[in-house]
Amino acid sequence: MRKYAPSVAWPVQSMTGEVASPHTLTVRNLHVEVAGTEILKGVNLELRSGELTAMMGPNGSGKSTLAYALMGHPKYKVTSGQVLLDGKDLLALTVDQRARAGLFLGFQYPQEVSGLSLSKFLWTSYMQRHTMETADAEGFGRDLTEHLGYLGMDESFLKRSLNEGFSGGEKKRAEILQMSTLSPVFAILDEPDSGLDIDAVRAVGETVARLDRPGIGILVITHYQRILKYVKPVRVFVMVDGAVALSGGRELAEELEAKGYDWVKVGLVPNA
Ligand SMILES: Nc1ncnc2c1ncn2[C@@H]1O[C@H](COP(=O)(O)OP(=O)(O)OP(=O)(O)O)[C@@H](O)[C@H]1O
Ligand SMILES: [Mg+2]
Repeated sequence: MRKYAPSVAWPVQSMTGEVASPHTLTVRNLHVEVAGTEILKGVNLELRSGELTAMMGPNGSGKSTLAYALMGHPKYKVTSGQVLLDGKDLLALTVDQRARAGLFLGFQYPQEVSGLSLSKFLWTSYMQRHTMETADAEGFGRDLTEHLGYLGMDESFLKRSLNEGFSGGEKKRAEILQMSTLSPVFAILDEPDSGLDIDAVRAVGETVARLDRPGIGILVITHYQRILKYVKPVRVFVMVDGAVALSGGRELAEELEAKGYDWVKVGLVPNA
């Protein structure tokens, strides 16, 4: 039986030596309905800051549904179960409150917003996580330029409307740029690698790996282990038919790529 063994002992010590307080996002027996159909049928999951995890699973198994339900998309109705952020009821919060509490979703299909420039969007979002005292315009600008460079994005993107006319790969990079400026506590990245060329997978993968710090928990939803060359998950979850059916170490991703999903059944591992 595969069991998850935490690779990082708490409390987590950051590079600067300070002890970062650990955060947890706990999903308990979550059931979610979309348009009257039950899609999630009892998801159990625990994410922790300081850990990067991955989620795989067949098309239509409910990975994006989980991401939307956690973020609070109104079409995704939680019918039972619990989601706790540091022990507090996340589901009681509105979408913006969840974002302010540090939850970030990088969309599988990012929306285009005409008339809102990327720079204005990023700065406005950043200010929602800060006060006039804690905001650092210079630091924000520095980080932004640095991350544009890591992601291989030209500064001209900042003046363009959010995602409008962006290619598929540019949209995915813009999602990661948002993650870099928002400093989330938990980031769920829904297929950040889909539609990316080989160099872009490396740029996105390496940038996510750079953002993988002690104070943040990252869940990367993906179909391919190619991004896992750059981001090294401590654990891989497999979603099958609306539930986490299996979890294991990084080698599980390779096993799935070789064997497919047919052998993975719900209930295979009781504590997955
Ligand atoms: N708004 C919606 N209306 C109707 N059905 C929906 C809606 N959203 C999701 N579904 C259904 O829920 C199921 C799970 O979809 P979901 O997008 O969560 O899968 P996924 O695991 O992310 O798949 P993929 O790997 O293809 O992205 C699918 O059968 C999908 O058609
Ligand atoms: Mg999806």
